[in-house]
Amino acid sequence: MPNHAKGTRSEVSWDPNSIRDDFPILARTVHRERPLVFFDNAASTQHPVAVLDAMDACYRRHYANVHRGVHRLSQEASDAYDAARARVASFVGAERVDEIVFVAGTTMAINLVARSMGESGIGAGDEILLTEMEHHSNIVPWQQLAARCGARVRFLPIRDDGTLALERLGEFLSPRTRIVAFTAVSNVVGTINPVTELVARAKQVGATVLVDAAQHVPHDRTDVRAWGADFVVFSGHKMLGPTGIGVLWGRYDRLESLPPFLGGGSMITEVTTSGFVPNLPPAKFEAGTPPIVEAVGLHAAIDYLESIGLERIARHEAELTSRAIDAMSAIDGVRILGPKAEQRAGIVSFVVDGVSSQDLCVFLDLKGFALRNGHHCAMPLHERLGVPSSCRASFYLYNTLAEIDRFATTLRSEIDRLR
Ligand code: ALA
Repeated sequence: MPNHAKGTRSEVSWDPNSIRDDFPILARTVHRERPLVFFDNAASTQHPVAVLDAMDACYRRHYANVHRGVHRLSQEASDAYDAARARVASFVGAERVDEIVFVAGTTMAINLVARSMGESGIGAGDEILLTEMEHHSNIVPWQQLAARCGARVRFLPIRDDGTLALERLGEFLSPRTRIVAFTAVSNVVGTINPVTELVARAKQVGATVLVDAAQHVPHDRTDVRAWGADFVVFSGHKMLGPTGIGVLWGRYDRLESLPPFLGGGSMITEVTTSGFVPNLPPAKFEAGTPPIVEAVGLHAAIDYLESIGLERIARHEAELTSRAIDAMSAIDGVRILGPKAEQRAGIVSFVVDGVSSQDLCVFLDLKGFALRNGHHCAMPLHERLGVPSSCRASFYLYNTLAEIDRFATTLRSEIDRLR
């Protein structure tokens, strides 16, 4: 049982120190015994013992291929895999368990939809609407689709503060708009987008809507039905789970009508020398041996997150973010990219006058702080913001206010030294 579950669950105010022992990696040091401060959670998150143990037990005691054997181990592995799908479905508010398709990750999920839609849903002269704050994984698959079918990709602009220019949405939506794909939370500026409103506007022109929720599902309660989109995608490794597993949620009728992307075992009900009959969703989209143990790990990760509560996690991250923005804004030369704390999730990207992002992140690393530098797979957004790259601090449930305070102090001294 996670440590925090012993008696703290019902308390209103919550101390992340009560769970840090659940994450073995947080106890390690880097560079001459500096305590590790892990602020790279938008890239990938760390794993609690509950996840490591669940995957270890599966490999040691219950592992075989799934849905392919009558033997005991195959039954146990199949039950565990199916239970993980049911857990994900209830976690995100899916209407049916078979609306959950397991894929390799968010990138794979978006490519799956873009590829499959290309076979039936879009043609020359049609438009695909994205936003200027998308991750490359929510840009390139659509550019590839547009190149194949002669469609045009358009980008809803952002305002200078890193929020979407919603007042301009009318200029970009028309009956030609066949697909609208956008992120729920920016992986660079942290902006929390008004998903329900955007989906409703896109639906008014009859567009298919995909929401990239990779930076939302791990950090706040997600209700896919309330959002009203056709597809919602996210990754296991950004929510305490393993790499190699992600989720495509699709409204069942949409998954039913979408042609399969990959061909192979499991995705058929019949194959003859003259053709094949596709299976029903989700099997239709899960060709080949699926990520079995990864699904077990994701199940354990969701149990862990739920034992704390997504609302509590969101509140904690809001507190960390607001403290970080206050402290960092007070440092001479620091420019924080993106909106005010109330409009953003736990992601703070910044640039410093006269100091390269790479140098700064290297020197912060030597003090124990793990941040990401570069364009964070969002080159169009950086171009719009007028910077080639940035440093990014991104937080999760195990980060503490004390870490933020130490970070601000170290950031100030490293900037002084580098200038
Ligand atoms: N999407 C990940 C990030 O933003 C890799 O860092």
